[in-house]
Amino acid sequence: MAYTAMQKQPGWGDQFPEMIRNGDWNYAVFQADHTLKSGVNQATCLVCHIPEASNDYVFSLNKLAAKAKSTQSALTGIGAL
Ligand code: HEC
Repeated sequence: MAYTAMQKQPGWGDQFPEMIRNGDWNYAVFQADHTLKSGVNQATCLVCHIPEASNDYVFSLNKLAAKAKSTQSALTGIGAL
């Protein structure tokens, strides 16, 4: 059992060749006990996420944005925001 993660920080993309770079995103896999899984080749993550460059390399960005928007309007609707 493991889970994937992606995070970006200024300069983090510099370690990768231009051809596979995903902006400043880095990718990682963590195990169930939250320790970093070693031996993961980030190149596999980078090349598969490249087609989502127009969505900041995040496949689910549109879904997340839509969810955030509907949650916000629901909260505004009940006067919570
Ligand atoms: C074969 C292509 C492929 C590879 C290789 C791949 N991903 Fe993804 N990744 C996807 C797709 C497609 C989604 C969207 C899945 C969904 O929405 O159900 C995704 C989603 C994600 C997400 C959630 C955010 C998002 O983009 O929607 C994270 C985090 C992630 N991948 C991390 C990784 C990591 C870390 C690696 C390398 C260990 C990796 N991925 C390798 C195709 C890939």
